[in-house]
Amino acid sequence: MIHNVLVTGGLGFIGSETVIALIESGYTPIIVDNLFNAKESVLGRIEVITGVSPRYYRADCCDENAMRKIFAENKFDAVIHFAGYKAVGESVEKPLEYYQNNIGSACVILKLMREFGVKNFVFSSSATVYGVPESVPLFETDPVREATNPYGATKIIIEGICKDFAKADPSFNIALLRYFNPIGAHPSGLLGEDPNGIPNNLMPYISQVAIGKLPVLHVYGNDYNTVDGTGVRDYIHVVDLAEGHVAALKKLDAGCGLVIYNLGTGKGTSVLELVKAFEDANGIKIPYQIEGRRPGDVDASYANCDKAFKELGWKTKLTVEDACRDAYNFQKKNPNGIL
Ligand code: WQD
Repeated sequence: MIHNVLVTGGLGFIGSETVIALIESGYTPIIVDNLFNAKESVLGRIEVITGVSPRYYRADCCDENAMRKIFAENKFDAVIHFAGYKAVGESVEKPLEYYQNNIGSACVILKLMREFGVKNFVFSSSATVYGVPESVPLFETDPVREATNPYGATKIIIEGICKDFAKADPSFNIALLRYFNPIGAHPSGLLGEDPNGIPNNLMPYISQVAIGKLPVLHVYGNDYNTVDGTGVRDYIHVVDLAEGHVAALKKLDAGCGLVIYNLGTGKGTSVLELVKAFEDANGIKIPYQIEGRRPGDVDASYANCDKAFKELGWKTKLTVEDACRDAYNFQKKNPNGIL
């Protein structure tokens, strides 16, 4: 029976939301985070929201000795592995760091799981593994294609490591969760997407325009083969995404070997549709200007999520409007991010 869950990267945007979902579902999460892309103060905010202050270790998942000590001190029943670098653009400039950090940390975790007999692994994968989609919606049976950036390549490589690892030892239960575009924030406004510097991703950029921190949204291209020419994505509320991890844990607990699930809404939303949803949800205008396309972007990417519903009993409950409202609420309460 899974009870103690190691959550690497557990103070990050998706990790912290998942820690909350785990606590609320009766699990005991133990957090490891090196604070490369998170703030330690998130721990106190988790406690305010849940009344629980999870055990936390500041450590780097690539540090095998440090991680071995943590495995030895805790009896983990499962691991949810979020820790990793995740900025697409940065991965193009610093490929070596991305390969070393993302693949290295995954190998250390899997090696220690084998050493300590921890048989249940949830990996934070990404729709990026589908590369440039030939058709949408995307199914789990669609081929993993050549990544369009080193970040995506690390996700493909780690999925491959997991598949080989599961083949070598069928007693392991592994869930590869392919996220589409996580957005939104915890409804309390205490936790949310808190990128360093100028946001690369659309929703945090819109939120910062909304509070006047940035002057205007730059829409990267309006000549795509989509409903209004702007890029179409599958925007999933981070609270729904967190629940998807709890549902996957239950599947692993029943014993399943290696399984793969898309976690999305099953709906595509264009950039301009998201802007309108944000404006309608919050009663605010978002100034924007159309620019050229951003290198590496695809026209459209959204999920078919029937498999997660059929096998996990999971589907999204919150809407894009809910996410826009929660994202704005978080941004207003944290104009300079989480300090
Ligand atoms: C969405 C749409 C842009 C910013 C990436 C990673 C993915 C995941 C989520 C980590 C596109 C447009 C964006 C802006 C814009 N990351 N856009 N102006 O590129 O779909 O996915 O982030 O897990 O793995 O690939 O997300 O939010 O950057 O872009 O017009 O200022 O918004 O062109 O159409 P993306 P995004």
